[in-house]
Amino acid sequence: MLVSHERGDLVVIANRLPVHRAAAGGGWETSPGGLVSALMPILREHKGVWIGWAGSAEPSLNSFEHEGLFNVPVSLSEEEVRDYYEGFSNSTLWPLYHDACQTPQYNRAWWAPYVAVNHRFAEVAAREAAPHGHVLVQDYHLQLVPGMLREMRPDVRIGFFLHIPFPPVELFAQLPWRQRILEGMLGADVIGFQTRHGAQNFVRLVNRYTIHRGSGHAINVNGRRVLARDYPISIDYQRIVSLASDPAVIARSQEIRADLGEHRTIMLGVDRLDYTKGIDQRLRAVYEIFKNGRHTVDDLVLVQVSVPSRESVDEYIEVRDRIEKLVGHINGEFGKVGAVPVHYLRRSLPIEELVAYYLAADVMLVTPFRDGMNLVAKEYVASRRDDTGVLVLSEFTGSAVELDRAVMVNPHDIDGMAAIIERAIAMPRAEQVRRMRSLRQRVRKRTVFTWAADFTQALTADQPQPVTSFPPATTLAGDRS
Ligand code: G6P
Repeated sequence: MLVSHERGDLVVIANRLPVHRAAAGGGWETSPGGLVSALMPILREHKGVWIGWAGSAEPSLNSFEHEGLFNVPVSLSEEEVRDYYEGFSNSTLWPLYHDACQTPQYNRAWWAPYVAVNHRFAEVAAREAAPHGHVLVQDYHLQLVPGMLREMRPDVRIGFFLHIPFPPVELFAQLPWRQRILEGMLGADVIGFQTRHGAQNFVRLVNRYTIHRGSGHAINVNGRRVLARDYPISIDYQRIVSLASDPAVIARSQEIRADLGEHRTIMLGVDRLDYTKGIDQRLRAVYEIFKNGRHTVDDLVLVQVSVPSRESVDEYIEVRDRIEKLVGHINGEFGKVGAVPVHYLRRSLPIEELVAYYLAADVMLVTPFRDGMNLVAKEYVASRRDDTGVLVLSEFTGSAVELDRAVMVNPHDIDGMAAIIERAIAMPRAEQVRRMRSLRQRVRKRTVFTWAADFTQALTADQPQPVTSFPPATTLAGDRS
């Protein structure tokens, strides 16, 4: 249990601060998102500190308090944004961890900046954490921080949570810095993954590429017990339900339906504009549906909301081009004056507006090639208060584990996906309700608050007895990368 209420008793470290610059006036605004809202209450209660980057290459900023939370900005130079953030984090680790669905770049010049920035974050945490405090390190940008922080502050309890997938052995093995990354993560007391597979991959890799031994969820790091297991993240279910019950949101959803055409089936996609999300394959499947002639622009429409992301990374520029060409292609071929098959919105929408779209949509398309969890799928389910609507979900998302009553697709199979989307469009109401009821129950049972409670409980639990006996290692002789 977290008991003391001293500043720094609970420290969160993430690449980004939970605030961003307001569009007007230059002040700070809390960023939307489940993680921020889940951690905020405990951070406030424990005089928490959040360490992160303010999101631009600004010169050093002072620490500041915002809405009861102490924010400690870490500054990055322009070169570091290029090499640590766009380079190693988003052009090496991001594609590698997402099943290498774009070729990861192993650029030796990016490693030193990644180490340096991780060291800077660790130093700030070492300064901010109270004696015997608790530090929660978030995500792939900061995998070396647990190890570095443990050296600097052996008294603190360290948790690490990976929000994205953790890849299988044969993929991770490509990484020239694989052993350093594993050792960095092992500095934590609790290492959380989105799925059981992610945790298993990690334990296998530790056995293969380090001198430490793990079995089940436990790893013995020089007599210290490290717990590696799945803690699937979720959403603030009640908040989405209340938004979906808000008369203004409901009225807006009716307006969206009327604008799109009352008698048309509305399909919806909502994603960060990222090549992992399978937006282009989804559009190809939609093309096939119009092409085969069973649906026309008069009875079917897709709204694709794509939130701009990492716009200076080449692969993101390329995927945007591909998507926009496809939208033009579909609309050119199947649209008519006054009606298009695809409405493409490249912008971020406020949550109220998003929920209005969820309420208007008959079929929700979530088709990533690989995704750590995918909270859009969970938000759609939470918003469907009348139990109607169909969730079409890629089997390669973390959410597919819990949301197993969704209609599953393989996003690599365009014809298969087109056929399944057609079945979703035609699904009888009774089947929609059976499936949606069960999906909603799942999401209601495990919210982001359950996630935060489980993870912090594991971290604050009394240190278990050191592990002494483990099964024989499967390490490849001489392989100590
Ligand atoms: C994913 C990552 C987060 C990241 C977010 C937005 O969800 O797991 O760590 O913050 O994408 O990406 P960005 O690069 O804009 O922070």
